[in-house]
Amino acid sequence: MLNLSQIGNTSGILVEIIAINEQLNQLKDLDAILDRILTEVRRLTHADAGTIFLVEKDNLKFSYVHNDTFMKAGEINKDIYANFTIPINIGSIVGYVASTGEPLNIDDAYNLAPSLPFQFNKNFDEKTGYKTTSIFTVPIKTSQGDVAGVIQIINARNAEGSSVPFPPDAQVLIPLLANNASVAIERAIMTRELILRMIRMAELRDPSETGPHVQRVGGYSAEIYHKWALNKGVDAKEIKKTKDLLRVAAMLHDVGKVGISDKILKKPDKLTDEEFAIIELHTIYGAQLFAKSTSELDTMSREIAIGHHEKWTGKGYPGQLIDMWSNPPQLGAPKKGEEIPLMARIVALADVFDALTSRRSYKPPWPDEKIIALFKEESGNHFDPDVVAAFLDIFEVIKLIRAKYADSPI
Ligand code: C2E
Ligand code: SIN
Ligand code: SIN
Ligand code: FE
Ligand code: FE
Repeated sequence: MLNLSQIGNTSGILVEIIAINEQLNQLKDLDAILDRILTEVRRLTHADAGTIFLVEKDNLKFSYVHNDTFMKAGEINKDIYANFTIPINIGSIVGYVASTGEPLNIDDAYNLAPSLPFQFNKNFDEKTGYKTTSIFTVPIKTSQGDVAGVIQIINARNAEGSSVPFPPDAQVLIPLLANNASVAIERAIMTRELILRMIRMAELRDPSETGPHVQRVGGYSAEIYHKWALNKGVDAKEIKKTKDLLRVAAMLHDVGKVGISDKILKKPDKLTDEEFAIIELHTIYGAQLFAKSTSELDTMSREIAIGHHEKWTGKGYPGQLIDMWSNPPQLGAPKKGEEIPLMARIVALADVFDALTSRRSYKPPWPDEKIIALFKEESGNHFDPDVVAAFLDIFEVIKLIRAKYADSPI
């Protein structure tokens, strides 16, 4: 027999799932979507923590995490840059769910029947002192029925805040939400791949403009902004929105390099003055690509492309645009200080950090101490002092991002 009060409650939550789904489809960045999915799933189940894994080849790649016990609201979530994969097989809980395509509810992780094929991995608890009890794990399925990933939520809480098993209605509704979310996830992966494809076109020209390089610059920029904004007291909603846009727009900072000839970009030595004058045009070619702004992302991408080589004291390039379409482009005085948009000031530092920390045909990688010394020296010269301060504050997170998007060994 169906319980009417249950149906009433369930359909209310269904309406909510549809509303959440509409919001998901408006967000473009993959991290933003994963963040929202975990927030909503945890809100509906009062779960303390949660993790999302996405399928990559034969593995589940750790992709996002929340943990209320360890993370204070509004702070930078450095744990999202953890970097590990779990093979898809029935030996682990997430592997089991990805293999079978079925949700799995566990009331007590420390009391699993020995006959089960999977084991609970105690590593995280042992390392952190966290106590995992209830675990609900659901596959994220595409419309074709393929498993695209897994959502795992941990420690449902009752009204008093103690850990309890996940209730039966959660076990029905969360899989629904997970499957609805797959459309937004697939779309975000497609957007990210399109952007990476655009970047690969630039990479064909400039061997240093690689996928990992742009992902690092995107990550550094997003987190530097987050810290800058916390320091300035920007409100949480504004931070989230800007951070998501910046992560993507920063990745596109150098796409204008597609307009520069191989002879110059692939030169193994120092550039001549004439060659450098041509390189400078990559900022303007980038701005031309985003000239017709149809979205906030276009506007931010244009500001970053044009402004990421300006310097705080006004000694950068290309300067004020008088006519970017004339040949050669007509330029005015260099921009300085807050005439340079904040997002460009942030990417300026993120890009130089990544250039210095990487090997280039014309230079070896620099040790961190040397880079930090340079940045302190350049605070108030090349770089906005507030941006340098935010960067130094979160250097531990910067190192995690660098490790997560390391260049693949050649
Ligand atoms: P990139 O390699 O991505 O470098 C980005 C920015 O990082 C540079 O902007 C510069 O501000 C900083 N940077 C890179 N290497 C060094 C370094 O050894 N020391 C210091 N202090 N800063 C460094 P910049 O100078 O406007 O250069 C823009 C782009 O022009 C570079 O992007 C690269 O593609 C090209 N480029 C610059 N210098 C050379 C060079 O000597 N040889 C070649 N082949 N390309 C160069
Ligand atoms: C965070 O606070 O790190 C999550 C927000 C995001 O990455 O978009
Ligand atoms: C990168 O920065 O990811 C490319 C490495 C290089 O400079 O060759
Ligand atoms: Fe550049
Ligand atoms: Fe770059």
